[in-house]
Amino acid sequence: MVTNSSSTSMPDCAHIPQPYDGPTRKEVLLQRRQYVSPGIFTFYKDPLLIVEGHMQYLWDETGKRYLDGIGGIVTVSVGHCHPHIVEAVKNQIGKLFHTTTIYLHPHIGRLAKLLAEHFPTDSGLEVTYFTNSGTESNEVAVLMARLHTGHHDVISLRNGYHGGSQVTMGLTGMGTWKFPLPQAAGVHHAMPGYCYRCPLGLEYPTCNVKCAQDVAQLIDYQTSGKIAAFIAEPIQGAGGVVDPPESYFKIIQDIVHAHGGLFIADEVQTGFGRTGTHFWGFEHDDVIPDIVTMAKGIGNGAPLGAVTTRMDIAQCLKQKLHFNTFGGNPVAMIQGLATLEIIDRDRIQQNATTVGAHLKQRLKDLQTRQPLIGDVRGRGLLLGVELVRNPDTKEPATTEAIEVLERTRTAGLLIGRGGVYGNVLRVKPPMCVTIKDVDFLVDTLDAALSLP
Ligand SMILES: Cc1ncc(COP(=O)(O)O)c(C=O)c1O
Repeated sequence: MVTNSSSTSMPDCAHIPQPYDGPTRKEVLLQRRQYVSPGIFTFYKDPLLIVEGHMQYLWDETGKRYLDGIGGIVTVSVGHCHPHIVEAVKNQIGKLFHTTTIYLHPHIGRLAKLLAEHFPTDSGLEVTYFTNSGTESNEVAVLMARLHTGHHDVISLRNGYHGGSQVTMGLTGMGTWKFPLPQAAGVHHAMPGYCYRCPLGLEYPTCNVKCAQDVAQLIDYQTSGKIAAFIAEPIQGAGGVVDPPESYFKIIQDIVHAHGGLFIADEVQTGFGRTGTHFWGFEHDDVIPDIVTMAKGIGNGAPLGAVTTRMDIAQCLKQKLHFNTFGGNPVAMIQGLATLEIIDRDRIQQNATTVGAHLKQRLKDLQTRQPLIGDVRGRGLLLGVELVRNPDTKEPATTEAIEVLERTRTAGLLIGRGGVYGNVLRVKPPMCVTIKDVDFLVDTLDAALSLP
């Protein structure tokens, strides 16, 4: 590791956190270990206790402030406890908490309309089914694709992540996140457009994007020739910010349609302006999906998900009763509405573009000085830094990535980690971050990579 890193301090913040008077960290940890499922994991050798948040910052029980560089795993889109959203939710909770969709309520239609207005004109993407999570959204999307097409097989991508239920674990293309499942039958994993580690050992653009062309063979060899759907994240999130080359998705979409399938874009991480120059991740790829799934950033931290599609596809759910107790809940709807209002009003997408471009450039500069950095990729405020021990062999620097997370935490910066080898640093802060914040982020990373 090299030396000579510069260092800036975290920008000032006017918010004063309330003094913490809850149980001690030790008590919280003990209760968690004794009573909460051990299947729910924590980050860091010494798990971090977070007790307050304001915009891009979080505080622990001692009053120490952190820059949130991962946004609650890409969920806090416009800032923790954004005052406009807090106010809107408070008002709604005092009026009506819950009824279910068996009665009319104005918010559900308002949010569905507002979402429809954010999709490309003439895309036909205008009817929405609300859920509580990304997992549920992907479940509903695959169900609709199977009902609408009458086919069963689904193609997803290696490295992809689509959720924790049985069907979505089947779609997920990373072994770490999968239990052995019979439900994975009928799911086939295609090659991701992972140029840094090309699955075919080729180079873009002379490769002719063979990884995408291969989907045709996959369908011919492994299915009856007809499929229900292809599902993918426009940029893979948990898979380590894998951003496929231009034309990758266009090639796949044509193949999928030719085989009777629907194209599902999982925008759980990439939606809502996060990729900067476009509101949706799929817009970078010159495709119009048949179904779009959302969660996370849609509600700035609310348990809210959505599936938007065309009316001709949405009709299929009328074949039986299909019901979701909390989907469309008025409190969740108001949180979604207030979040979208802020994204539009405060030019959040523009901020993701400008601050994201500055951040990416600074990370690229860092790459020239820090030999552990093998690749910097992503768009807007959805960036990844892949650490490798050797630039030629690309041996994953997984233990180093774990250590970098520990060091940045100590310095007041929280980032994530992902990728098949767990060696990709994930940088996805709330989209209200400033240039000064990301300068602090890069300098902190520089210092963490510079220590022996
Ligand atoms: C791309 C993507 N799809 C789906 C999901 C599942 O969402 P949830 O955890 O809300 O069920 C996630 C969660 O990380 C995700 O990143």
